[in-house]
Amino acid sequence: MALVELRNVSKIYQLGGEEIRALDDVSFDIDEGEFISIIGPSGSGKSTLMHILGCLDSPSRGTIQLDGMMIQDVSARELAAIRNRKIGFVFQFFNLLPKLNVVQNVELPMIYSGVSAGERRRRAMAALESVDLANRSRHRPSQLSGGQQQRVAVARALVNNPRIIFADEPTGNLDSHTGEAILGLFRRLSVEGRTIVLVTHDPEIAAVTPRRIEIRDGRIAEKIDLTLAGLNRTAPTVPQRPADGGTGVTQ
Ligand SMILES: Nc1ncnc2c1ncn2[C@@H]1O[C@H](COP(=O)(O)OP(=O)(O)O)[C@@H](O)[C@H]1O
Ligand SMILES: [Mg+2]
Repeated sequence: MALVELRNVSKIYQLGGEEIRALDDVSFDIDEGEFISIIGPSGSGKSTLMHILGCLDSPSRGTIQLDGMMIQDVSARELAAIRNRKIGFVFQFFNLLPKLNVVQNVELPMIYSGVSAGERRRRAMAALESVDLANRSRHRPSQLSGGQQQRVAVARALVNNPRIIFADEPTGNLDSHTGEAILGLFRRLSVEGRTIVLVTHDPEIAAVTPRRIEIRDGRIAEKIDLTLAGLNRTAPTVPQRPADGGTGVTQ
């Protein structure tokens, strides 16, 4: 069974009597350990798709199964718990809380998952270490560069050891050099066995992932899978979770 199974998903918005079909009958799977991009021009439905894949929003029609669970069958409360435990998000504008320092921002997802304060700090520092920012843990987000802020957001996405990470235009607010460094970070996480979905309008960015799904006007326009031929695939193995229930990030 795939980690994510999307079947015949449509999303229809009603806007002043007009029907906007943001997604129209979209089906595909994401396997554990895959590094995949969703690419398409602005307005094609990428963010809508990511919100449904990430259980932030529900489809108008069709089904989504995540890690063996049919998402429409669970309550809103269970859904929030699934999101918190199984999914990490990285956004274009970082979405860090300005009044919290870096390590407090990274600890946030663990507050909702009931981890003790000492363990929260330990795992947040390990996640910061993995993005090479342990020495900035007491800074406020505003004291960091854009690239550093996005690395903090990646650490926050990793800290609950999620099953899958979604990144929506993660380099969209960065200069090209810094953007490449962030893509390099995702590539490293992929090699370590993380499942990552990269959402972008930019073909050069999508080119870093071996599998690409192109959407246009809410429909799948093209599927490119270089993994079938084994061309780009690096070891698709998932590292064992540490026995201490740590973050699973390499330190
Ligand atoms: N909450 C909403 N209400 C109405 N229309 C929406 C809403 N969100 C997105 N849309 C529309 O759905 C389409 C896809 O949007 P979106 O998924 O944000 O595209 P992308 O991320 O590819 O730019 C667009 O036409 C957009 O205007
Ligand atoms: Mg978008």
